[in-house]
Amino acid sequence: MQRNILITGGAGFIGNHVVRLFVNKYPEYNIYNLDKLTYAGNLANLKDVENKPNYHFIKEDICNFESILNIFKQYNIDGVIHLAAESHVDRSIKDPFTFANTNIIGTLSLLQAAKNVWTDLENKLFYHVSTDEVYGALEMNNPRGGNEPGGGPFGDKFFTEQTKYNPHSPYSAAKASSDHFVRAFHDTYGLPVVISNCSNNYGPYQFPEKLIPLFINNIRNRKSLPVYGKGENVRDWLYVEDHARAIDIIFHKGQKGETYNIGGFNEWKNIDIIKVIISTVDRLLGRKENEDIDLITYVTDRAGHDLRYAIDSTKLKTELGWQPSLQFEEGIEKTVRWYLDNQDWLDNITSGEYEKYYEIMYKDR
Ligand code: NAD
Ligand code: TYD
Repeated sequence: MQRNILITGGAGFIGNHVVRLFVNKYPEYNIYNLDKLTYAGNLANLKDVENKPNYHFIKEDICNFESILNIFKQYNIDGVIHLAAESHVDRSIKDPFTFANTNIIGTLSLLQAAKNVWTDLENKLFYHVSTDEVYGALEMNNPRGGNEPGGGPFGDKFFTEQTKYNPHSPYSAAKASSDHFVRAFHDTYGLPVVISNCSNNYGPYQFPEKLIPLFINNIRNRKSLPVYGKGENVRDWLYVEDHARAIDIIFHKGQKGETYNIGGFNEWKNIDIIKVIISTVDRLLGRKENEDIDLITYVTDRAGHDLRYAIDSTKLKTELGWQPSLQFEEGIEKTVRWYLDNQDWLDNITSGEYEKYYEIMYKDR
């Protein structure tokens, strides 16, 4: 079936993987990548698909309602995969207004445009991509040693689709609000929507302000590794292409009005993942084993730092048949190798805006 799909935030980290998957897998779809190209958006991420006949780029801000409305009409948009957002917790602590604007008002503007233009709701879908951070933080208790619900390595509780929202950071508060608006448009206007909440992603093309690419780059350049607090916080890591595959499955097979949690049952304490990254970078660069371990520098903890995230993705597995394809060891090896093989990409990014940001964020530490 021919479709006209608007993917927002397609020049960002996860977005470029989703755009690439859809452009290559569905030549019969027109894919419109709409992105404002903030500091986090980089069209170099999509060089390999930019000349495909079914790929189109639109530089626009999702908050510009009139423009968004025109885009829906002009391109006869019948599906939306909404990823555009401000996504970095540390930035949200410094500048919550930008997060409220993009993540809440921007989402509302897309919803309102879809509602206005989609008079016939047949074969329409508004897919909102969200995060596990809306659920707040889990305790570390009753560790069971395993990696399944009821048996997590750091606690017996997991986030399910029924977990009450309890966001702590301006980032997660803004994402939670956007999720509520999406559900409100479904319940009030009957807009066909679907939401997914995913755990931390890692992989190629992630902006090097997030833990994994930042630390790979710092180890390469022998810069210090700022570990927040004691490094005891736990995150649940998923390879980004597995997230993109989940989005494809949910977009095509998900039940309207439903939420799906996405995660790989792959919890790691920050300090342990950092040690894996150090040993992998050192090995791949031909350095002595753990030569760079002393780069670890414990710094003041992030304000409101969520202790533990762990996603229960049983619903997605049992109802739609998705499961992660990569083991973490394989994924992290691939990821480190990618950043080391793509030093131009990293250097381009770190030479501009990001350097200034780094100074602002870390000069007090
Ligand atoms: P990112 O910061 O790498 O990319 C965001 C993209 O959105 C960039 O290309 C940016 O230019 C664009 N953008 C920002 N503001 C915009 C605006 N006003 N108008 C149009 N475009 C705008 O983010 P990411 O890590 O790729 O995350 C994508 C989505 O997935 C977000 O909604 C995020 O909340 C969600 N998510 C991320 C993770 C993760 O681990 N990165 C996990 C779960 C969910
Ligand atoms: P991050 O990649 O920012 O993702 P999120 O905050 O959305 O989970 O951070 C992952 C974890 O790593 C989080 O617990 C904060 C920690 N962290 C550090 O210890 N040092 C850093 O420099 C960064 C960026 C993160």
